[in-house]
Amino acid sequence: MATNIAIYGKGGVGKTTIAANLSAAFASSGRRVLLIGCSPTADSSHLLTGEEAPVVLNPLLVQDGQIVIEKLITIGYLGVGCLEIGDPVASCGCSSKSIAASLDKLYDAGVIADFAPDFVIYDMPGDVGCIGEVTLRKHKVDYSLIATSASYQSIYAANRLITLLTSSQANRTVALVVNGSVSSFEDSLVEHFARQVGLTVAAAIPRSFADRHSELYGKTVVEAGPLSFQANIYRSLARLITDGRLARHKAAAKPLDAARLKEWAHEWGRRLGELEFGIISDGAGI
Ligand SMILES: Nc1ncnc2c1ncn2[C@@H]1O[C@H](COP(=O)(O)OP(=O)(O)OP(=O)(O)O)[C@@H](O)[C@H]1O
Ligand SMILES: [Mg+2]
Repeated sequence: MATNIAIYGKGGVGKTTIAANLSAAFASSGRRVLLIGCSPTADSSHLLTGEEAPVVLNPLLVQDGQIVIEKLITIGYLGVGCLEIGDPVASCGCSSKSIAASLDKLYDAGVIADFAPDFVIYDMPGDVGCIGEVTLRKHKVDYSLIATSASYQSIYAANRLITLLTSSQANRTVALVVNGSVSSFEDSLVEHFARQVGLTVAAAIPRSFADRHSELYGKTVVEAGPLSFQANIYRSLARLITDGRLARHKAAAKPLDAARLKEWAHEWGRRLGELEFGIISDGAGI
């Protein structure tokens, strides 16, 4: 039975980069992986195949109401299967319902079972609003990874996601992944938030040109720069899952209420202010 991993987070926070690199990391340890792009941007495959993949919601791929399966999965780096749901709006559908319906169809048609993956990775849309519908209720999610940077907006989105994920996926593993941090200060900020809500930080991925560099060639950093520090972080995250260490962290998280989140933000605002401007600013303390 496949292990299902879903990657959530605010738009642009790095979900696709993490999903593709995690897929490559699993594949490089001999696992069979299916990456399902659920984002309307349909760009999940690019880092593994170097090209645009066909999308499930493209009417041309459906004949007599049936999905033409062979064309749907594109094989990428080390045999990773890549499947894009596509843009429900472009195909005149409601985004959340179309994604959920497409997934149902793929499961019912045996597409996922036929591929026989060890891991199925869902690269979720950044739109928090539609995730409630698309939380893969029917399809068991073993690991929900919430990607966040140290920005308030992405922490705010993560806090909202905790509500959605912990209610719909009780007793599943939910963890944070810090992405794009530029200093240990930013790692500490997210670590502190994680402690407040009762989640573990599964990985801290720094901002790196290694990701930007490999992206320009349509590759993951795991493929393009296997000896890099960045690639090692993605492989460590994969190992945390394959050896069962992350599974111990069940979803007992509790989001911060509005007042507590504001208080937490101001606490870190004060620290950041001191770091950036100095405790003595504008000469007032001289
Ligand atoms: N750790 C990192 N260091 C440097 N660049 C990064 C890092 N993570 C992601 N990026 C870059 O940030 C951009 C956005 O990343 P990505 O597409 O993975 O975000 P996303 O969350 O999937 O976005 P969307 O919500 O639109 O699906 C990409 O150009 C990617 O290369
Ligand atoms: Mg994406």
